[in-house]
Amino acid sequence: MKTLLTEEQLGEGIRRLAAEIKKHYEGRPLTIIGVMIGSIVLLADLIRLLDMPMRVDLVKARSYREGSTRPGPLVINVDMLSESIQGRDVLLVDDIFDTGRTLWELIPQIDDLGPMSVRSAVLLWKEGRREVAMKPDFAAFKIPNEFVVGYGLDYRDQYRNLPYVALLEPHEIGE
Ligand code: IMP
Ligand code: MG
Repeated sequence: MKTLLTEEQLGEGIRRLAAEIKKHYEGRPLTIIGVMIGSIVLLADLIRLLDMPMRVDLVKARSYREGSTRPGPLVINVDMLSESIQGRDVLLVDDIFDTGRTLWELIPQIDDLGPMSVRSAVLLWKEGRREVAMKPDFAAFKIPNEFVVGYGLDYRDQYRNLPYVALLEPHEIGE
């Protein structure tokens, strides 16, 4: 395992991300929706840097991946939202924009609930892997097309608790 982003670098990137988000919304109240499970660490750090009125909610998206890179069918559950988002500015927060399919499928489902606006913020963006006609609105770091873990991101449900982001080397990925 090789460190890609240290705790210090993550801290700086997330402060930059928070500043951009704050500037964009100019103090308007926001509903931040974390996409579980990968976003939980980012969500916890990000919301504490945003001194603006907000609600926080969660949805669950899971692509039943076999191993690291081959995505399986995507299951999204927006029914678990606890508050109405009608007329609200919504910011979806996810760990990584990889193929983009998660946000691409999630955004129309959120749109159906009648928000004023829907935007997306991610920690990591693997620019080269995009398969959909959208980009994240806010991204803290662009990273190369390699499999990463830590700071919420998992490999087979392991490593989410690492405080840094690391590259898994080919021999550590059992595919
Ligand atoms: P998407 O391909 O943009 O829809 O990304 C779907 C999900 O795949 C992300 O939210 C992550 O949970 C997972 N994922 C994509 N790339 C990586 C990675 O490098 N490490 C760990 N999880 C990843
Ligand atoms: Mg995820």
